[in-house]
Amino acid sequence: MDIKDLNYDFQKVFNTAIEGLKFFAPGRVNLIGEHTDYNGGHVFPCALSLGTYAIASKSSSSKIRLYSKNFEDTGIIEAEVDGISYDKAWDWANYPLGIAKMLVDAGFSIDTGFDIMFYGNIPNGAGLSSSASIELVTCVALKTLFQLDIDMIEMVKLSQRSENQFNGVNCGIMDQFASGMCKKDHALLLNTNSLSYKHVPMELGEISIVIANTNKRRGLAASKYNERRTECTRALEALQRVLDIQYLGDLTEDQFEDHCYLIENTIDRKRAKHAVYENQRAIKAVEALMVGNIRVFGQLMNESHNSLKDDYEVSAIELDTLVNAAWDNGAIGSRMTGAGFGGCTVSLVSNSDIKNFIANVAREYEAKIGYKADFYIVATGDGARQI
Ligand code: GLA
Repeated sequence: MDIKDLNYDFQKVFNTAIEGLKFFAPGRVNLIGEHTDYNGGHVFPCALSLGTYAIASKSSSSKIRLYSKNFEDTGIIEAEVDGISYDKAWDWANYPLGIAKMLVDAGFSIDTGFDIMFYGNIPNGAGLSSSASIELVTCVALKTLFQLDIDMIEMVKLSQRSENQFNGVNCGIMDQFASGMCKKDHALLLNTNSLSYKHVPMELGEISIVIANTNKRRGLAASKYNERRTECTRALEALQRVLDIQYLGDLTEDQFEDHCYLIENTIDRKRAKHAVYENQRAIKAVEALMVGNIRVFGQLMNESHNSLKDDYEVSAIELDTLVNAAWDNGAIGSRMTGAGFGGCTVSLVSNSDIKNFIANVAREYEAKIGYKADFYIVATGDGARQI
């Protein structure tokens, strides 16, 4: 897909002579700090060069018209600027419509209709944040078209709110923050409690980040995700009977070990253990990376996977198969990434080994699971912007 062609398609689809403005927002891969973002902990994602493009213009009517080149059969979806509400039949279009509604509800003036055409090159349903990227690209487009006085952090928060309230997905803030705020050649260390953040250079030398997509459909992911959130909340409440804390991420490992007896439910205790240890692992991993100790970073990624598998129980046979094959084939570190139950793994691999690594892991995966995985060598990218 050549994005230069987007204007041609835009004019044809919407039957207009107007040239649209172009925007892009990336997907993300999280390197470490998983299921910590709704526990007031740290996350460490980087933005991908893959993401969602949007081409947009204001129109003279009061209608919103949306079109995706990824779902051409659906055609144009139309809504009125005033009175947007969720409609299951609109499927993907609920993400951009949610953003428009949140902006209007927050008092921003969207005083005419507009046309937006989208094109995304993130693999579908892979857990690489295609939804956050469509939210952020819509927000940046509407900010520009309607000259809204809103900064990127506010757009990130509004996008998360839209996904929570409009789309009914109870996600944390990591994906939207990564899509909005990341920088090329850097990963982003975010404290999800204070929202303080730091761009950390990814100077990996002879090492690359490799994503492997299980291609497994993530059937139960949303309900299991919400279940984990509930379990963490219960564990926190049990600890709060004695401890003056706001989040599980407030605790060190020792503080947790000293007080975990308060969490009587053993499942909740395991979930809380993951949240506490994973937060500390993310902090330690970034410290190691900043002094060039990539081996320690890799080791912590491996520990993260085991914790997500055994204590948090969000892995799956497909993810474990990819991770075990990665470990057996020389990965410096490998783990499932994102919410889990399917989606992708992320591995650090020496450049000189990459060809063999991918060939071997691909073969072992297909032999065990019965269908193919897909592999991507990560190119990092910048956050949401006009292009
Ligand atoms: C999904 C959510 C994020 C985060 C991850 C798990 O990607 O959208 O907020 O909770 O799962 O780390």
